[in-house]
Amino acid sequence: MTTPESIKKIVELLLVSNNITALTGAGVSAESGIATFRDPEGLWAKFDPLELASIDGFMSNPERVWSWYQYRVNIVNNAKPNKGHYALAEFNKLNMNFNLITQNVDGLHQRAGSENVIELHGSIIRNKCFSCNEIHEEEILSENLLNYCKYCNGLIRPDVVWFGEMLPEREIDKAQKLASKTDLFFSIGTSAEVHPAAELPIISKREGAVLIEINPLKTQLSEFADIRIALPSGEAMPLIIEEYKKRVIK
Ligand code: OAD
Repeated sequence: MTTPESIKKIVELLLVSNNITALTGAGVSAESGIATFRDPEGLWAKFDPLELASIDGFMSNPERVWSWYQYRVNIVNNAKPNKGHYALAEFNKLNMNFNLITQNVDGLHQRAGSENVIELHGSIIRNKCFSCNEIHEEEILSENLLNYCKYCNGLIRPDVVWFGEMLPEREIDKAQKLASKTDLFFSIGTSAEVHPAAELPIISKREGAVLIEINPLKTQLSEFADIRIALPSGEAMPLIIEEYKKRVIK
């Protein structure tokens, strides 16, 4: 199928689906200037995830981990949502049966206007206590020095999921339920290599959903996809949503 044919087919499916789910990954924010993880220029090509994104890494050098996350928070704060985020937010408003699950911690879907986003890997903008887990949201924290919890004096850390940690229970539960009842599942801008998020498209496919992948490069999910669009999400998603709007808005 050519790309225009695939887009037409996807829109036909959107029109008849009662439940639509999208899982997004770092690729969706690439066009906002935020590095992905596993591409050749990705974060894990330059930094060691075990040093910077694990409990052991934080315990052995909390200053290094904290300052690396502050460097990433600054990038996120200076970034803007791109056309892919905006197209998904627009669809979120047009179709009540659409649910958005993200592995991204940058909050760009929400800044583009998406509501009820399920954040599987937490949020880089939010912090919590390493000891008592209390969320520290509104406080002004030092970027350069370690900060301590006002309740228990534990170290403050970003509220993101590190390697070896469990995903937030409510979020992964909701995501698994959505994946098993959805008619149409979009996997957008993710390498689909990190579990349990990577299982969601497979669950949906097993339960009978049509699986669509939007990614310029093939992933290990590609062989299971019913339709693949090999374009950046900032190009593919607006094409799909514009075509959808032509059909629903008269
Ligand atoms: P990856 O870096 O593993 O994969 C990014 C994917 O996006 C790749 O398959 C790229 O081909 C694709 N891509 C790049 N640019 C794109 C674009 N403009 N449009 C669409 N796709 C594009 O990132 P994730 O799959 O999100 O976990 O990684 C999953 C998790 O691994 C992350 O949430 C993070 C990381 O360790 C935590 O931080 C807990």
